[in-house]
Amino acid sequence: MAIREIVKEGDELLRKKSKVVKNFDENLWCILVDMAESMYKNRGMGLAGVQVGVLKRIVVMEVNGAFFEMINPEIVSMRGEVEDEEACLSVPNRRGVVVRPEEVTVKFQDIFGYDMTITGEGNFARCVCHELDHLDGILYIDKIIKKPKGKK
Ligand code: NI
Repeated sequence: MAIREIVKEGDELLRKKSKVVKNFDENLWCILVDMAESMYKNRGMGLAGVQVGVLKRIVVMEVNGAFFEMINPEIVSMRGEVEDEEACLSVPNRRGVVVRPEEVTVKFQDIFGYDMTITGEGNFARCVCHELDHLDGILYIDKIIKKPKGKK
């Protein structure tokens, strides 16, 4: 297992659409372990495959002490709107305020290919939206409505 280098803003790869995962095999599991290690090493809340150079629809997240691995995630419903600050390991030393849903329900597959559904609010909803955007080549900086409080 290995810490992988994080792809940074300016690299065209981050603008590409990631592909649906069909094989739930050791190769996938190795990538997910590397992604988790890379996320923790860099103190991130979440990481999408493309951020370590893998154009697959895969995401790891740690929110409020719970660890998630999502394969082929899709948001199936959302509710409310919240403005809050966001950051991204691919866009170092920057923060910005983005509007996200207050609550989302996300459907995905686990590492063995079983269907799962989770509903969550707050940081979970924000992180899911941020990471799923990565899978479609979207960065949170595309959606910033204002700078964080107390910063110029
Ligand atoms: Ni990000």
